[in-house]
Amino acid sequence: METTVIAVDGFASTGKSTLSKRLANELNFTYIDTGFMYRVVSYFALNSNLIEDGVILEREFEKALAETKFTWSTDTQSKKMLFNGKSFGDEIRTLVISTLVSQIAQLGFVREHLVAQQRSLSKLGSVVMDGRDIGTVVFPYADFKFFLVADSKIRAQRRFDELKAKGEKVLFEEILKNVVDRDHQDSTRDISPLRKAEDALEIDTTSFGEEEVFEQMVSYISK
Ligand code: DC
Repeated sequence: METTVIAVDGFASTGKSTLSKRLANELNFTYIDTGFMYRVVSYFALNSNLIEDGVILEREFEKALAETKFTWSTDTQSKKMLFNGKSFGDEIRTLVISTLVSQIAQLGFVREHLVAQQRSLSKLGSVVMDGRDIGTVVFPYADFKFFLVADSKIRAQRRFDELKAKGEKVLFEEILKNVVDRDHQDSTRDISPLRKAEDALEIDTTSFGEEEVFEQMVSYISK
C-alpha cells in the first residue's frame, strides 16, 4: 500500500495541531499529535509517584514506561489515541503539565520509546504527524514537511485565551514565560532538539489567520 507522511514541526502554539488536524480531515489521513504523547507520559509520571520533590526517578520511570502502550480506540467515529487503554483530555493541557513536559521530553529513554510508538501507530496508512522532531528524526523521509514559527507574544496570547476559555486561572506573564522557556528547552536539548529540517517549508503564522496558513499548506502539497 502506497502511504504518505506529512510532518508538521514547529514552536509551541503556532497552530500546528489545529492545522494538522484540518489537513488530515481534508486528505482523509490519520492525525497523530505527538505533543499529546509527551504530555500523557508526563501526566503518567506525575501521577504514578515517579517524581519526588520535583526530581524524576529515571530508573523507575524507564521501567514503568516500557510496560505502557499507545493504541487507537476501536470507536470508528472518532479515532482517539489511548494510553494504556485510557483516553485523556484537558488534564494534560494544564500549566503544570506544560512546565513538566519539557523536562520529560529531554530524557533519551522517553524519546526512544515514543518515537518507536509513533512509527508503529503510523503503520496503518497515510498520516499527518505534528511535533518537534518529526521531519528530522521520526520521519526524515516524510513526503512533505512544514515548519511553523510565530512571534512568542502572539503564541502566548493564543494559549492564554485557550486556557481562560477552559476556566483555568492563569496570568498572561506566566504563559509567556512558559512559551519562552519551552522554546529554549525544546531547541537546546541534546537529543532531537527542535530545528527546521532542511527540506521543510517554513511558515511564519504571526500575521496570518488559520485559513491563510491552511491554504498555503494545501497548495504546497498539491503542487
Ligand atoms: O505540541 P505540545 O505543546 O503539546 O508539546 C508538548 C511538549 O512536548 C513540548 O514542549 C515539547 C515536547 N515534544 C517533543 O519534545 N517532541 C515532539 N515530537 C512533540 C512534543
